[in-house]
Amino acid sequence: MLLNNKERLITLLIVVSAIFLLSLALSLLLPAVFETGEITDSIILTSHSYTEPYGSLVQNESKKWFESGNPLQAAQYDGTITNPTSYDITSWQIQFELPEKAYISDSWNGIYSEQNRIQTINPPKDYNLTIPAGGTITYGFIMFAPRTYVPSEVTLNYKQKIEISHAWYYYAILILTIVSGSSLLICIPFIIKVLDLQKKEENARITIEQTLKLFANTIEAKDKYTSGHSARVSFYVKELAHRMGLSKQDQQNIYYMAIIHDVGKIGISDSILSKPDILESNEMDIMRTHAAKGGEILADFGSLPGAASVVRHHHERYDGKGYPDGLKGEEIPLFSRIISVADGYDAMTSDRCYRKKLPMSMVREELIANSGTQYDPKVVKCMLDIMDSGFTPRN
Ligand SMILES: [Fe+2]
Repeated sequence: MLLNNKERLITLLIVVSAIFLLSLALSLLLPAVFETGEITDSIILTSHSYTEPYGSLVQNESKKWFESGNPLQAAQYDGTITNPTSYDITSWQIQFELPEKAYISDSWNGIYSEQNRIQTINPPKDYNLTIPAGGTITYGFIMFAPRTYVPSEVTLNYKQKIEISHAWYYYAILILTIVSGSSLLICIPFIIKVLDLQKKEENARITIEQTLKLFANTIEAKDKYTSGHSARVSFYVKELAHRMGLSKQDQQNIYYMAIIHDVGKIGISDSILSKPDILESNEMDIMRTHAAKGGEILADFGSLPGAASVVRHHHERYDGKGYPDGLKGEEIPLFSRIISVADGYDAMTSDRCYRKKLPMSMVREELIANSGTQYDPKVVKCMLDIMDSGFTPRN
């Protein structure tokens, strides 16, 4: 549980750190980018109908006249430039084409120049140079032309200075930086505490494991043929539990249980336990009591919940012909079914006083032959998969 929490906290710490570093980098880089940020662009205000959003240039219908001696018609033109954006326009210019013979006689709010019939209007030097965000400026002129004329194409050239204070996402990044940075400050003490607890838990785990192994070794010391049996079985069990997809906590628990699965043998007399020959029938009956005895010994072993039941049933058979209770199929605890296969595998791959270890081909045949009778077929299949992957017995 603690391990899972630790992994989640570490993942959270990595994610929050990444967000913090990224947002911090952006919040530092963006002002530098905006410092030199400038947009230069052109917009064509096509015909007099174009009034939005950047402005218009229209002929004032009430201000048209002729002057004596001049065949051209005079007309007043009123122009506006609107800045609909969030950034100030810092420089602007209006351009349109003059008709044949037309000329501008008077103007206001701009500096007017003409070249090759292209009329250019620049802002006055002393005002209207900048059009603030959302603002509008006006300009106008009197033009003499052979007919009523409205430029069909009016071009607005402009520059904008990009200011970071106008960018909403800059504030979003700043907020993200502050929130993720604060979260880091809150997270770190928790991580340190969890790591400390995890270290203590690891020390406790080592102590438990060594104590259980010491206990198992004490029992096995009576019989050289079973020496190392619990260590090997627990090793195989660990592999099986991992391959069968048990949770990390379950893998840990079944490993401990496998170490002490034969703890009940402590109640079996040395004459039977260390007998160099095959046991007589009555001796075998006594030997078989070790499973139930083991369950009784572990009845109050609260540090390893379920251990008593798992140890009690590690000699049950899948077909119900095992001992001590004749449980059948999935009535037998899963951990017991796994330990049973590992126990059998070790028995077949170890020398006994009455026979040598079996060749691997025969071990495989025995496992298959007893699948569904002595052993859980799912566990046997997993054991066979492990053997196929190059797994070899421990010495
Ligand atoms: Fe046993």
